Amino acid sequence: MKNSALRVFAELESLSRSAAQKIVEASVEAVSARGSFLLVLNGGGTPTRLFQLLGAEYRDQITWSKTHIFWGDERCVPPEDHESNYGQSWNILLSRVDLPASNIHRIKGELEPSEAANDYALILKQFASTPLDWPRFDLVLLGMGDDGHTASLFPGSEVNVSAPIIAVTAQYENRPASRLTLTPLVFNSARRIIFLVSGKSKSQTLASVLYGEYQPENLPAQRIRPTDGDLIWMVDQLAASKL
Ligand code: 6PG
Repeated sequence: MKNSALRVFAELESLSRSAAQKIVEASVEAVSARGSFLLVLNGGGTPTRLFQLLGAEYRDQITWSKTHIFWGDERCVPPEDHESNYGQSWNILLSRVDLPASNIHRIKGELEPSEAANDYALILKQFASTPLDWPRFDLVLLGMGDDGHTASLFPGSEVNVSAPIIAVTAQYENRPASRLTLTPLVFNSARRIIFLVSGKSKSQTLASVLYGEYQPENLPAQRIRPTDGDLIWMVDQLAASKL
């Protein structure tokens, strides 16, 4: 890991604004250094305010024509389903900016899961940073569930996976979650990873992930450790209340 940092914000609004600023900075740096900005979005409720800000106030600070959008995970549903991570980002962010359709690289949740995984592995390969079979993403956004899951890496799932993207079925919030997720191999080769965590229900898990024993099987968020990149935890005061 290069650097790791923890930043605590009064509430989700200031956290989201600071994250938007960090995305702008990362995009400027990536475009000037490498000619493009490869950004991975997350799902869930926490990033929605950030996505709104990026699609409005911060819109003109990002060179969208040079930005490529990917996802860290996807639910196995069609793109127009309200559970689709792609659909959520499309509605509140991507449809509002000048992003060429060819720069949107969604995981196809409507396909049969193994087919969707193969399809996405090929997409990742097109952007690969040799010798890897996937890109070194400029910035990856991740969230964390109350149970310590991140992307769709759930507690109890296999820790050492050798594929870049896998299909998973997890029991989450009392219903089976059929999803596709990138794996730590891909996340950990990113140049920068930002976790966005908000709310009191995550405070105990956050304390365990950051300062507890290393138990990646039970706390998948601990599997995220960029090998040669930066890791930033952006959390609100409620989530930080047990640190
Ligand atoms: C998803 C996510 C998932 C999410 C966490 C936190 O597809 O749901 O990528 O890993 O980030 O579940 O979600 P909240 O932000 O809703 O708490």
